[in-house]
Amino acid sequence: MSNTDNSLIEFGVTGSETEQTPETGTLTEDTQSIISTRGLDVWYGDDHALQDVDMDIPKNRVTAIIGPSGCGKSTFLRCLNRMNDMVETARIEGEVRFNGTNVYDDDVDAIALRRQIGMVFQHPNPFPKSIYDNVAYGLRVQDKPVNDEIIETALRRAALWDEVEGQLDKSARDLSGGQQQRLCIARAIAVDPDVVLMDEPASALDPVATSKIEDLIEELAEEYTVVIVTHNMQQAARISDKTAVFLTGGKLAEFDDTQKIFENPESQRVEDYITGKFG
Ligand SMILES: Nc1ncnc2c1ncn2[C@@H]1O[C@H](COP(=O)(O)OP(=O)(O)O)[C@@H](O)[C@H]1O
Ligand SMILES: [Mg+2]
Repeated sequence: MSNTDNSLIEFGVTGSETEQTPETGTLTEDTQSIISTRGLDVWYGDDHALQDVDMDIPKNRVTAIIGPSGCGKSTFLRCLNRMNDMVETARIEGEVRFNGTNVYDDDVDAIALRRQIGMVFQHPNPFPKSIYDNVAYGLRVQDKPVNDEIIETALRRAALWDEVEGQLDKSARDLSGGQQQRLCIARAIAVDPDVVLMDEPASALDPVATSKIEDLIEELAEEYTVVIVTHNMQQAARISDKTAVFLTGGKLAEFDDTQKIFENPESQRVEDYITGKFG
């Protein structure tokens, strides 16, 4: 499935609606959790991609998901807003509680859920429309009012306004990669979600654009909960409050304050991974 398809599904345009208790997994401080997984398992056919994951994701914080390639980071992220529903071979067990409700309950509307839990992908995927129309897209799909002020606010929050002011009619595809990714973030937050999921949002960008995205993510956490998958450990250390380390076999090896994970992890395996001994 292409990224564009994912975006359309995210906005409810196409796509049918067919469809462990590690001690480290719970929060120790007085932060409220917005998403909690319990006993979350995912299989793709016979491939057990995620095993018994318990995690409490704190509200209005940045949570980073790190781990070696293929360890289930994207799978975990996609479970949170039911993007895995689109993968025919995927089978999911366990609970993902979002503000207390299990998102896998029969009566949960996955499209409505994805409006509250938005997503930004690795490769910027603006629609072949103007900058303005990209930001307005989700609102129009939902029949919500669109006006210049709403568009400007979303672009300002995505730290793009100063670069596109006066050229909102320009095609989004003419922006640089880093600008396109910030536009995708503006599009995701224009509908005012609670949570923004990001799957390696800067890995296709140059260092300057990456740094802008990192600054932006830290700012976003004032209003949104951000869960970001990254293969870049320095990035996780720089921008996140909490870090989850997945290791091979889709197991959550450790979940704790980012500083603790990087300075004094509990397990030798995590320490070996953090220090680059494998992965
Ligand atoms: N759509 C899919 N169909 C089948 N297997 C998949 C699919 N997506 C991921 N997998 C498998 O699940 C495991 C975890 O993948 P993924 O979540 O993409 O890991 P990561 O994001 O950490 O690299 C891998 O073995 C991968 O091959
Ligand atoms: Mg991935």
